[in-house]
Amino acid sequence: MLDLTVVVPTFNERENVGPLLGLLTDALQGRAWEVIFVDDDSPDHTADAVLALAETHPNVRLLHRTGRRGLAGACIEGILSSSARFCAVIDADLQHDETRLPVMLDLALADPALDLVIGSRNVEGGDAAGGFSARRKWGSDTATALTKAALKITASDPMSGFFLVRRSSFATVADQLQVAGFKLLADLLSASRGRWKVAEVPYRFRQRQFGTSKMDRAVALEFLGLLVARKTGGLVSIKFVLFGMVGLLGVFVQLAVVGLALRLMPQSFALAQVCGVVVAIASNFTLNNALTYRDRALRGLDWIKGLASFYVVCSFGALMNVGLARLVYDVAPYWALASVAGAVAGAVWNFMASSLVTWKSR
Ligand code: GDD
Ligand code: MN
Repeated sequence: MLDLTVVVPTFNERENVGPLLGLLTDALQGRAWEVIFVDDDSPDHTADAVLALAETHPNVRLLHRTGRRGLAGACIEGILSSSARFCAVIDADLQHDETRLPVMLDLALADPALDLVIGSRNVEGGDAAGGFSARRKWGSDTATALTKAALKITASDPMSGFFLVRRSSFATVADQLQVAGFKLLADLLSASRGRWKVAEVPYRFRQRQFGTSKMDRAVALEFLGLLVARKTGGLVSIKFVLFGMVGLLGVFVQLAVVGLALRLMPQSFALAQVCGVVVAIASNFTLNNALTYRDRALRGLDWIKGLASFYVVCSFGALMNVGLARLVYDVAPYWALASVAGAVAGAVWNFMASSLVTWKSR
């Protein structure tokens, strides 16, 4: 049995996979280990670079995913594909310190009760500043404080993308994890509900040399979605939170358009309302395509077909909305309650139907 599977998520990391393999090979000399690169069909053909390495290295594997994207999901699938005793996750871009891996592995091998070893930048000997701009450092610190408070996490660096987990422990929580996120470790710590034995090993976060970071505003919003998803005990998913945020924004878009239309044609409220609804649906579609479903974003002709199907989905959603609101109102005649119940039902329908029809996954 292998002691360690190193899971490396990659998206456009062609220049990094070769150097990383060299560093891993040096660091893990004498160990029973393999590395699995989980690539989301990178346009720069990272997968081909991995296959080329595999020709001469039997411990190199490739998990090539098509039709989906996402860091957390890639790591989860990589870990689930392993049959080793432990799995480590490390970024491909050489920002994490691979020389800490044998230290992390030895800790875990020595203590059968240990579930997780975190590579931490926030304990004595660790350092985050080296790999971050001042702005990202601030963002990372804020997110860390928020996460620790919201999810009651005590580990010092829940935002780290560098950790080692006992495979059998991971298996007990795997089906509760959010595949859409970027911060798998925070999710993992939260899913373990403080029951895991966790150790931390310091490391110094390094500068990225080749390629670019995939962290952006959408990732930050997804992260807020992760906190909400966790707080609701998984009742809502990250995508549903994003869909809901877009929907709330849509209310304001609709109000603005109706207000504007009424200025142009003060006599025709019904027509103004129609304009508001039509524009709000199109704007919701555009935002959901760019944010909620950016992992399967529609382009070109598919964008137009998608918009059309979204109009159809939302029409049924509106019917459900009105229908349920009337039912509730008949039972309990409080208009606000009935109206909100209708809106929630409509939103749930729109979300489920559009993910099956408009943004269907492959
Ligand atoms: N398969 C796959 N799919 N891999 C991805 C995706 C994706 O959608 N997005 C990013 N990756 C890979 C990158 O190729 C890289 O190897 C790794 O995930 C980290 O992505 P970066 O874009 O370099 O992220 P970062 O440096 O801004 O943030 C990283 O470091 C932070 C601090 O440790 C991540 O590991 C964060 O999770 C972490 O908080
Ligand atoms: Mn990076």
